[in-house]
Amino acid sequence: MNNANNSIGFFDSGVGGTSIWKEMIKILPNENTIYLADSANAPYGKRTKEEIIALSEKNTEFLLQKGCKMIVVACNTATTNAIAYLRAKYPVPFIGIEPAIKPAALRTQTNSIGILATQGTLSSALFAKTSERFAKNVKVVEQVGIGLVERIESGSINDPEMDAILTNYLKPMMEKNIDHLILGCTHYPYLIPKIEKIIGKKVRIIDSGFAVSKQIKHVLQKKDLLNTMSQQGNYSFHINKDKIVLANLLNDIVYPLEIKFTKF
Ligand code: DGL
Repeated sequence: MNNANNSIGFFDSGVGGTSIWKEMIKILPNENTIYLADSANAPYGKRTKEEIIALSEKNTEFLLQKGCKMIVVACNTATTNAIAYLRAKYPVPFIGIEPAIKPAALRTQTNSIGILATQGTLSSALFAKTSERFAKNVKVVEQVGIGLVERIESGSINDPEMDAILTNYLKPMMEKNIDHLILGCTHYPYLIPKIEKIIGKKVRIIDSGFAVSKQIKHVLQKKDLLNTMSQQGNYSFHINKDKIVLANLLNDIVYPLEIKFTKF
């Protein structure tokens, strides 16, 4: 059933997972991809585990109906709450994204690392397990990014209010002497220029886009599912809300894209 030239499906609570998608097409440009932005139901971070599972199931079914050979859960909140359920239910390979606690904990010199993520991710059992496993002897300063996903989803990244909110979240983390800041939400890489202005160069920002892309390639190789065509892949995007925000975030992509408003 699984055909190597079928698409890789991506889903996120909204537009943020495009930060992962952008990394992936750099190393696998000939893969066809279908991206699903469930913006009508964003943010997932405030929802219960049961709701996140139900939404993740709906997104997965949509992508499987389109014949996807692999599903990338391009959302920390959906991964930490729903990926075990999805893997048990569906036969295709799933790639998830989790906050990169391990590399930060291994590299810290101050023994203090920060994580900015959604409530849903920080309160998940999977996050607790990963922190316990890799950061037992390191101080982990957690901060919920209240309001950040909503603002990115509404296209307000550059509102002055965004800088004020970020300063409010990041200054107390700096006071706790963090030397690594983990971005535990796929929307947040779009805030990196603003975050850098606040935290300076001494704190290293860690996001998982490149690592996840390498993992996608590795799993496709292992399962003999790498696309065999040599030309550029087809990239299609479905969003169940206003498509302007998504189009703006993708306007640095030089390849042809299809962005559709779709009810799902
Ligand atoms: N991009 C999602 C994540 O990585 C955002 C979650 C949300 O919608 O709250 O967690």
